[in-house]
Amino acid sequence: MEINIIKPLRKKTWFLPLILTSSLILIIFSLIFTSKQNNPFHQTYLKSKPNNQIPFFVESKIKISPTRPISSIPKIAYLISGSSGDVNSLKRTLKALYHPLNQYVVHLDLESPVEERLELNEFVSNENVFNEVGNVRVISRSNLVTYRGPTMVTNTLHAAAILLKEGGDWDWFINLSASDYPLVTQDDMLHTFSTVPRDLNFIEHTSDIGWKEHQRAKPVIIDPGLYSLKKSDVFWVSQKRSVPTAYKLFTGSAWMMLSRPFIEYCLWGWDNLPRVVLMYYANFLSSPEGYFHTVICNAEEFKNTTVNHDLHFISWDNPPKQHPHFLNINDYDRMVESHAPFARKFGADTELLDKIDVELLGREPDGFVAGNWFDRSDTNRTIAESLVRNATQLKPGPGAERIKNLIGGMLSDKDFHMKHCI
Ligand SMILES: *[C@@H]1O[C@H](CO)[C@@H](O)[C@H](O)[C@H]1NC(C)=O
Ligand SMILES: *[C@@H]1O[C@H](CO)[C@@H](O)[C@H](O)[C@H]1NC(C)=O
Ligand SMILES: *[C@@H]1O[C@H](CO)[C@@H](O)[C@H](O)[C@H]1NC(C)=O
Ligand SMILES: *[C@@H]1O[C@H](CO)[C@@H](O)[C@H](O)[C@H]1NC(C)=O
Repeated sequence: MEINIIKPLRKKTWFLPLILTSSLILIIFSLIFTSKQNNPFHQTYLKSKPNNQIPFFVESKIKISPTRPISSIPKIAYLISGSSGDVNSLKRTLKALYHPLNQYVVHLDLESPVEERLELNEFVSNENVFNEVGNVRVISRSNLVTYRGPTMVTNTLHAAAILLKEGGDWDWFINLSASDYPLVTQDDMLHTFSTVPRDLNFIEHTSDIGWKEHQRAKPVIIDPGLYSLKKSDVFWVSQKRSVPTAYKLFTGSAWMMLSRPFIEYCLWGWDNLPRVVLMYYANFLSSPEGYFHTVICNAEEFKNTTVNHDLHFISWDNPPKQHPHFLNINDYDRMVESHAPFARKFGADTELLDKIDVELLGREPDGFVAGNWFDRSDTNRTIAESLVRNATQLKPGPGAERIKNLIGGMLSDKDFHMKHCI
């Protein structure tokens, strides 16, 4: 009953305004169309329109973003991820890597207990320096990550997307785990990389997939982490597939430093290659060792930006097993002589990490790595007062020379331009 009474009433109240607005719109439209010649916007549109109808290829019009000039101080975006039991080493790696100019995302996967994830959250939100600068983010909706599975790649892309959206104008993206540790200070890193072209991608790769053709490319796997709430290992489908002919497979180390333009290319996907290859790698065992390698080496606009190194010191057993061996104090000299900025993998034994802190990083137990950005000489000052606002004055040490030797050696190789993606 009520409804019947209200309806006609309502109709009356909005019927008149409706008629009025629609006639007004009609008048405006007819005015626009009759005054085409006088409309300045219309004229500029005509002028900018090309005369001859060239077919419009979308992909070729989308330019790769420009990189920042060499010699400006670069900014690095880090992902540090871990799993169950990794919270303490993740905290340690984060502090050893911290610099106010960089950006950080930390992630503990869904397998790690809620308490550990809360602990990490609290650690980040209670650290005054992080609060003051605001460049450390915790992924709170954790991903289920299967070791060897494509969920490892989706987790990396997830973090890169967060960094693209919120991390400001960083130059390179580096993917690390809680069992990685730096061998140089971030002042060393930023100092040396300030003279390196920003479009370079440090990614160890080869097209010689060898035994991996039969063991990796042909078998088809399913990663339950893509659809399940419980963690379980990948499983194999009985059918095999042939090696792709639409693009060439590349393989290499799962550790890399990727340029911002390449990350944009992978994530924004205006070219279909990164998306197609991602779907292909959904059923590929150990996809982190192939996804970015295959994309970059099949993209004409990026393959010449590859540098064949993963910037890590990793010690494999001989013959190599599935995992590299845990580094110990006997590896120290070889590790430093490798000139690599990072090493893995570090276990619970902290003797070696303590030595790195003292001899290579100048880091106090539980503290940050000394640098010009943090001045604790006057302990009466608050953290906020001790943070040097202008962190662009770097204090490079011997580590800067080591990276310079490593990178310089690779870039000055006379065959550098012949060695991309072979
Ligand atoms: C990224 O980091 C993880 C360690 O958390 C590693 O296992 C993975 O293979 C890395 N690489 C890629 C391409 O996701
Ligand atoms: C990449 O390098 C090769 C060999 O130097 C050259 O022929 C090719 O044109 C380069 N590609 C691009 C896109 O610059
Ligand atoms: C810190 O404060 C104490 C007490 O106010 C003072 O005696 C001391 O000299 C101050 N230290 C410095 C380095 O200013
Ligand atoms: C920061 O320091 C650099 C190098 O000393 C200087 O060029 C720049 O102008 C400074 N920036 C600010 C905001 O003070």
